[in-house]
Amino acid sequence: MSEHVVHPVPEEWAKNALIDAETYAEKYRRSVEDPDGFWREEAQRIDWIKPFTKVNESSFDEDDFRVRWFEDGTLNLSANCLDRHLPEKAQDVAIIWEPDDPNTPNRIITYSQLHADTCRFANALKANGVKKGDRVTIYLPMVPEAAVAMLACARIGAVHSIVFAGFSPEALCGRIQDCQSDIVLTADEGLRGGKKVPLKANVDAALEKVPVRRVIVLHHTGADVPMVEGRDVWWYDEIEEQNAQCEPEEMGAEDPLFILYTSGSTGKPKGVLHTTGGYAVWTAMTHEYTFDYRPNQVYWCAADIGWVTGHSYVVYGPLANGAITLMFEGVPNYPDFSRFWQVVDKYQVEIFYAAPTALRALMREGDEWVKKTCRKSLRLLGSVGEPINPEAWEWYHKVVGDGRCPIVDTWWQTETGGHMITPLPGATDLKPGSASMPFFGVQPAIVDPASGEVLEGACEGALIITDSWPGQMRTVYGDHERFFQTYFSQYPGSYFTGDGCRRDEDGYYWITGRIDDVINVSGHRMGTAEIESALVEHDKVAEAAVVGMPHDIKGQGIYAYVTTTAGTEDTEELRQDLIQWVRREIGPIATPDVLQFAPSLPKTRSGKIMRRILRKIAANDTGNLGDTSTLADPDVVEHLLANRPG
Ligand code: WT7
Repeated sequence: MSEHVVHPVPEEWAKNALIDAETYAEKYRRSVEDPDGFWREEAQRIDWIKPFTKVNESSFDEDDFRVRWFEDGTLNLSANCLDRHLPEKAQDVAIIWEPDDPNTPNRIITYSQLHADTCRFANALKANGVKKGDRVTIYLPMVPEAAVAMLACARIGAVHSIVFAGFSPEALCGRIQDCQSDIVLTADEGLRGGKKVPLKANVDAALEKVPVRRVIVLHHTGADVPMVEGRDVWWYDEIEEQNAQCEPEEMGAEDPLFILYTSGSTGKPKGVLHTTGGYAVWTAMTHEYTFDYRPNQVYWCAADIGWVTGHSYVVYGPLANGAITLMFEGVPNYPDFSRFWQVVDKYQVEIFYAAPTALRALMREGDEWVKKTCRKSLRLLGSVGEPINPEAWEWYHKVVGDGRCPIVDTWWQTETGGHMITPLPGATDLKPGSASMPFFGVQPAIVDPASGEVLEGACEGALIITDSWPGQMRTVYGDHERFFQTYFSQYPGSYFTGDGCRRDEDGYYWITGRIDDVINVSGHRMGTAEIESALVEHDKVAEAAVVGMPHDIKGQGIYAYVTTTAGTEDTEELRQDLIQWVRREIGPIATPDVLQFAPSLPKTRSGKIMRRILRKIAANDTGNLGDTSTLADPDVVEHLLANRPG
């Protein structure tokens, strides 16, 4: 049904936007028919030190496999985000920082200050022995210093690896180990919704297993934290004597910029590696066109810098465009459910970009929280991270945007660096729930998952991308073979997204969600294998199977089936223990919503767990379990059905 609801481009948008429908069609055609010419021009939005002569030299074929853009060009992304804006906008605002508690002073940081802070910290990193190519682990809350740390790394050519400050010491430890970084940047504590997060204590716990040379600690809440002699130093002491000038390192376009760990369907989280030139072009360009960004507009992406959305659309994209980017430390429901909209009013935010899970949670609290704020400054809304259901879309449009603001539902991934399928507000008629049309240079296709055959017209299947784009990830850090196997082996010659997708008669794309063993909880991506492996590390657990289940607010919840070791009594206490165990092992976002004891799991005769059936039981969709003829023991299913908790 929702497919037939169409919100046409508002007239003012069609007239005034950077990209209207005609320009979109023209530019898109050129981007796929003459990609080299197209990208040669678009890449001029970045200041190159040495201009590139080569454009796209990527190949998805196994024999000749590589992803490479603008390879012989050189640049520095920190200089693109800072120095080049100084002649005209040194005194203009770069970052507005709104703290967790509205009564704490905010911070307004100009481009000139951000430049000085970045240079000082870059010099401090150098003084602490960090060199080009070194990996720097960042475990910081949403404070301006997080952006400073990223830009300082980019300035000296160090590779940052940000670990979301909600992750556990175990998760942090694994990520430090994987990229062999010997320096960690953290804070005494983080602050979210009035609650303190013991960041330094978590770092100390992580470092018991993986010692590093240096920890630089930011004084944030002022908590008294123990400092390890010879290893830990204070951020402010380190920058005190440093010069506010630091020459940006000349980086090759394909030199690494950052690593960001993300979950896959198997194994440990992968270190997604992005490089400098293509990523710079992609984030700056998508930020400008998708959000129709114009100078001096206040732009707010509510994502944490621990996720790729924070990397691309809180820091790099907006700053490369000289934008005013708002950084929010807090949460949508603290001190109350009006918080987002109060911040919008406080700074006259024009563009607001958030995840559906936050919107659904706010929607549930009623319209009053929204309606008592003004929100007249808003002109554009964005959605990211998971499918937005039409009901939440309509609420966002009608209640938050007063029916006035287009919504850009942006589909993309950690791997893609930036937006891939998204409406452009002046060009695309909107269908609630559809990410709509490909961005310039993006060539999506839908294949039959069984045969691999490319489907035409209106159809549904697996979403692939048939050619490279500048923002694409370049490798899995330390495991190039895994990069190829994960994304390019399934449908030879194409990038496999892991998502299912439908295309309608108008050519609109509707992402239907992951078709691999990845679940999306509140827009956070998790591998079921990761949670299973945390569970089986518990000495009372023999086997575990984890699946996603539908969840009103989170999109998907986590449903865990656990077989305990022989002789163990499956008590309520143990059930709670196991839930807390996962929470501690991975982090609060991985906390199972349901944990069911399963004396045995449904398996095929060859011993493969039939997840399809587990998903059905979890969804309480038990009327039709599908083909169960290959089950080794059909009674197992009966038992699970009869003992569903709740
Ligand atoms: C997965 C990627 C996008 C950056 C933040 C998440 C899902 C993302 C949408 C959307 C439907 C979406 C996909 C994708 N997803 N955006 N607009 N509509 N699904 O990045 O953690 O790498 O997760 O998020 O399933 O594969 P990520």
